Amino acid sequence: MKTFTLTRPDDCHLHIRTGALLKTVLPHTARQFARAIIMPNLKPPVTTVAQALVYREEILQAIPANVSFEPLMTLYLTASTTVDDIAQAAQHPHIHAFKLYPAGATTNSDAGVADVKAVYPLFEAMEKHDIPLLVHGEVAQSECDIFDREKAFIDECLLDMTRRFPQLRIVFEHVTTQEAVQFVEEASHLIGATITPQHLLFNRNTLLAGGIKPHYYCLPILKREKHRQALLNAATSGNAKFFLGTDSAPHLSHLKENACGCAGCYSAFGAMELYAQVFEEANALDKLEGFASFFGADFYRLPRNTGKITLEKQTWTIPDRYDEIIPLKTGETLAWKVTNPLF
Ligand code: NCD
Ligand code: ZN
Repeated sequence: MKTFTLTRPDDCHLHIRTGALLKTVLPHTARQFARAIIMPNLKPPVTTVAQALVYREEILQAIPANVSFEPLMTLYLTASTTVDDIAQAAQHPHIHAFKLYPAGATTNSDAGVADVKAVYPLFEAMEKHDIPLLVHGEVAQSECDIFDREKAFIDECLLDMTRRFPQLRIVFEHVTTQEAVQFVEEASHLIGATITPQHLLFNRNTLLAGGIKPHYYCLPILKREKHRQALLNAATSGNAKFFLGTDSAPHLSHLKENACGCAGCYSAFGAMELYAQVFEEANALDKLEGFASFFGADFYRLPRNTGKITLEKQTWTIPDRYDEIIPLKTGETLAWKVTNPLF
């Protein structure tokens, strides 16, 4: 049997919600990943250190017995965030970044930032205190075509931000286009990007051709094939600017299978198996450990993990659902399986 052992990975972009949903999804992540950057887009959003610490406690309570897992907390940036909030967060050991959601760009982004330039003093403070800024890199203007929103964000926001704040560490989250890949490649070493399994595996035909498939709807939306190819090349290149962030985002099935279905794909149940398939198909399994286990930790200036996980070449069928969540590729088979002695 073919097996592949690598340093335990980190998920650098994860949604786990709260309450019953959190209890359902967290074990999936914790059995594979040692740590995860936890997104703050709850309702209401996690905007203060105090709220993040309460959320962190809830997460710690939901970790299965005998499993080590560390939630890396982030704060949701709003127009009301202050320079003092940033100084306080930056020196707190459990807060690792601020997340910028352009208002209206995605799920639970209503409290986000309407005018990015208006929060430049906050970027200046993040640069000074050396705390990373994570960006949902899409403009939210309704007149901008949904397939062009990421490129528009680069042109209208990111280029200026990186010029004005050259020492600010930025993660361009869940990049989906050739233009975003090129931007990150050409930017300074302080600019990184996460890449999701769905954007490596699928293009917009999966979502739209032959019938609309709501479980493949996420934001940024799946793009055309040439963009998927650019992402594949970036992820398997060994370039340390690109690292793993699943953007696994659970939603109740009736809210996705809906006349106005919400955005987000659930991949945590088999995240490393999905990435392993992608890397194997690209003949680049040797590049998976850097992407999954080293480059994210290095960006966040965290020690690399010391534990290991093993992937076995073993076909298994993805369940139809996990409680009320329909997983990505529901009912299909995966070629790899994580076997973890802890679980
Ligand atoms: C995410 C969610 O559901 O919270 N949805 C998504 O489509 N990716 C939010 C986000 O990361 O945009
Ligand atoms: Zn996300």
